Parts: sequence; structure tokens; C-alpha cells
Amino acid sequence: MKEITLHDKTFTSYIGKKKIAKAVKKVAKEIEIYAEDDTVVFVSVLKGSFVFTTDLAKHYKKPAFFEFYRLKSYEGTNSTGNVRILVDIDKELIEGKKVVVIEDIVDTGNTLEKIIEELQAKNPADLKIATLFFKPEAYKKDYPIDFVGMEIPNKFIVGYGLDYDELGRNLPEIYKLKEKRMIDLVLFGPPGAGKGTQAKILIEKLGLTYIATGDLFRHHIKNQTELGKKAQVFINRGDLVPDEITIGMIEEIVADPDTKGFIFDGFPRTVKQAEVLDKLMKEKDLIIDVLISLDVPKERLVKRLVERGKTSGRVDDNEETIRHRLAQYYSFTEPVKRYYKEQGKFIEVDGVGSIEEVNQRLLKAISKVELRGEK
Ligand code: IMP
Ligand code: MG
Repeated sequence: MKEITLHDKTFTSYIGKKKIAKAVKKVAKEIEIYAEDDTVVFVSVLKGSFVFTTDLAKHYKKPAFFEFYRLKSYEGTNSTGNVRILVDIDKELIEGKKVVVIEDIVDTGNTLEKIIEELQAKNPADLKIATLFFKPEAYKKDYPIDFVGMEIPNKFIVGYGLDYDELGRNLPEIYKLKEKRMIDLVLFGPPGAGKGTQAKILIEKLGLTYIATGDLFRHHIKNQTELGKKAQVFINRGDLVPDEITIGMIEEIVADPDTKGFIFDGFPRTVKQAEVLDKLMKEKDLIIDVLISLDVPKERLVKRLVERGKTSGRVDDNEETIRHRLAQYYSFTEPVKRYYKEQGKFIEVDGVGSIEEVNQRLLKAISKVELRGEK
């Protein structure tokens, strides 16, 4: 993966030249169809749109006028919400014409709203919006975007005209802001220790990505994938799912490491899985920082799980299967602790107490880990 630095931030390659070219051609074609026999007025929004505008112009095969607006809305990597016009367009160039706004990117839609307001006041015959990139998750307005090159997730991108504080506009492909890695951890403990409950609170508070093999299995089983069908047999018996199946599911997820960090819940469950996880992470230049184990006495676990079985609807939450799952844990899974202990990456946290109490203990343990290793 290519990396570049602009000012103080690192960006990684994201969308290549071919994909961009395809999107540009698509937009050009759609506008040709819309134009019919009219000469449209393209209103390019500077500065960001200058690259898109020139490439679009090369692909657009019908007569057209080109006009330019210059606006400013972004500071750094955040939309300021206040849009200023720096270069305006004369009314007679717009009046009675089919007008197509050319935007590089539509994010919140603040800039666009301002442009539409300004252009409507100049009485065009019709007004359409074309953008190369569109962030639907960030868009706050109702105004329809007529021609979209491609939709992208709500991430900050540079290149192909787009800048980070004026740098990066001349990059021929798109780069995205690299997330600063915080921590990658394994939340560990016997069934019923509260891993799932705690992990969900941690991802809320820390913005990490949650990877629960239990959820993965249930998802694959529900969708009756090949991996899911194989896993089902073992899960219904309360047995551990064989490594190849689990690892296949994990591989799919770790393939996209674009997050502040992973919390693994229910994986690794064997020393072999721990070794495989290390290898998968290393391939992505990542490392598991710590295994945090929630400590809860055995009889308390049985009580908790039987209680959960009354409402969870999970077929493996009955006392007989529970005792079998615990036995499996103590023979095959517990040795994973030693694997991390030997690497100096093991912390035990008391898992008995209220959800909030246990969560505070976990956060304290995590803060200690962060101090140990700046990523
Ligand atoms: P909006 O007003 O929030 O829709 O933002 C539109 C303007 O913000 C664009 O014309 C860009 O100049 C800038 N912008 C929005 N998102 C990005 C991005 O991901 N990278 C660089 N500039 C952006
Ligand atoms: Mg712009």
C-alpha cells in the first residue's frame, strides 16, 4: 500500500487511476444524454474541481460553455459550514441556460446549497448537479445529486484536485487519511465472563472495531454460507469450531484493517489460532498489543449462563452444554493466556462486579497498555 505525507498527516492509496477514469466517463455520458441538443453551461467549482473539470471536458463530446466559481469552505480536514464566494459568475452567462454544476466532492452539502442558491438567483432554464465523489453518510441536505461518479464512505480523501490544506491536488489518484492506530487487543475469558457486554461498551467509548467469532459464526450460519454450514455442526454440540473454519472467517475481516484498532472476542481460542492471528496481523504491519482476561469463578459462570439461556434464545445456553463448553475452555482455550504471558502481553482483570465497575477496570488496564506502546 502506497503512503504519502502531506503536512502533518499520512495518507494511503485508495482509488486508482482506472476507477477514476471510468467514473469520469460515466458522468460525461450521462450529461451528454441530459443535454439533448442544448449547449449546457458547466459551472466548475474551484479549486477542487479543476482536475475533474478538465478530464470531464476531454470526454464530453457535445458543445458546452465553461464557467468557474471559486468558493472556500474547508479548513484542514473539517467542513467549516460557512461558505464564501471568492469568484462570481455574471448573470447573463446563466440566465435561460441548462446549467450543470461540476463538483469534485459533495460532503455535507453546505457548499452545494450555497451554489444552488446563488445560481437559482441567476434564473437558469434548468439546474443539475454533477460530482465525482459523493459521501452519502455525510450529506445533510435533501437536494438531489443528479450525476455521481462514485459514492465513497465518510472518509477524508486527497488527490485528483482534492486537497489537505492546499497540498495533494496534483496527485493522479485518490488517497485517504490513515487512521491513527490506538490498540489491538484480545478480550479473553471463559463463556459467560461478560466479554461481549464489555466489548460493546469499549467500542462505543474508544471507537474500536469489534470482532466476535460467536457473532461471525451466527452470521455465517444465518446466511448458510459454506463456512457457516460447517461451523453449525460443532456449535450445536458445544464443541470448538475447527481452526480452518474460524480462521477463514477472521481472514475476511482483518483484510481491511482501516480502523483505530480491533477488539477480538472469542478469538483466539487455541494456541494455534493465536499463532495464526499474529501472522495475519503481521501481514498488515499490525500487532496484538495485549490479551486482557476477565477472571470469573466457574460456578458463577454456570449461574450466569443458565440465566442468560432463559432469554438469549441460544441453543448452546443450557446447563449440560454450558458445562461442556466450560470444560473445553479450561482444556484448550486457557493455555492461550500463557502464549501472551510469555510475550509480556497479558493482563488479568477481575470480572466480578457491576458492568460499569468491570468496565472501569478494563479501561484502566487499556490505558496502561497505551502508555507502554505508542503506535
Ligand atoms: P461540503 O460543503 O461539506 O459538501 O464540502 C464540499 C467541499 O469541501 C468540497 O468542495 C471540498 O473542497 C471539501 N471537501 C469535502 N470532503 C473532502 C475530502 O474528503 N477531501 C478534501 N476536501 C474535501
Ligand atoms: Mg471544492
